[in-house]
Amino acid sequence: MSHAKIGIIGGSGLYKMEALTEVEEVRVETPFGDPSDAVILGTLNGTRVAFLARHGRHHHLLPTELPFRANIYAMKSLGVEYLISASAVGSLKTEAKPLDMVIPDQFIDRTCHRISTFFGEGVVAHVGFGDPVCLALARIIGDAIASLNLTDVTLHRGGTYVCMEGPAFSTKAESNLHRSWGATVIGMTNVPEAKLAREAEIAYATLALVTDYDCWHSDHDSVTVDMVIANLQRNAVNAQKVIQETVRRLTQNPPPSEAHSALKYAILTPLDKIP
Ligand code: ADE
Repeated sequence: MSHAKIGIIGGSGLYKMEALTEVEEVRVETPFGDPSDAVILGTLNGTRVAFLARHGRHHHLLPTELPFRANIYAMKSLGVEYLISASAVGSLKTEAKPLDMVIPDQFIDRTCHRISTFFGEGVVAHVGFGDPVCLALARIIGDAIASLNLTDVTLHRGGTYVCMEGPAFSTKAESNLHRSWGATVIGMTNVPEAKLAREAEIAYATLALVTDYDCWHSDHDSVTVDMVIANLQRNAVNAQKVIQETVRRLTQNPPPSEAHSALKYAILTPLDKIP
């Protein structure tokens, strides 16, 4: 049976995991339509994992178009308990330079056209989201990065990820506003995913891969598409090493996660009144 406890969502630049063996492609049907692509089940050093290319393997989906609910539903139905989200981000701080890795522990939601809940239609629930990532999983990803001694990569543990709607990048005024809030990085996808994962009781954490300084930075004007693509490719190579090491550590020692019981006190509608 198709099953994996560890899921990986690969963002811009990370469309496949080269090291997977015994690969099985699964088209998961969901009540929310098709996921972004087939889920690739494969074995990574003895552990079964489920990989999904967030924008599709040929990158055909805008952030606003992503079927977030179908993606998380697909992961849940395959048995995923820990979800690693590898995501390209722009940097809002001088010290987080292109190629660096950030493990955010907070999010700011600036999206406005996303459905970020499985609830409604007669069922009311409010999950806790004060700590929006699973801190135990985040620690394991950070430890995996630290153990690899990657050249040109500085690890930043903690930080705030601003999730914008896009697809256009920020204006300079917006970028400076985000900086004035103390945020560390900016991307376009992680908050709906993190909220839905929490509602699905999946432990979720982000491996944020810096591709560029956002437009607040004087270096930004000299950034070319070629440079961003080169950074995406280098990030993708590094991300695969980090994911492999994270999967190894998670398999050896799967941590308890509060996310796994997120619905315990969340559902307000009496069970006998749920349609
Ligand atoms: N993803 C990568 N770089 C980004 C940026 N500067 N803003 C928003 N999302 C991004």
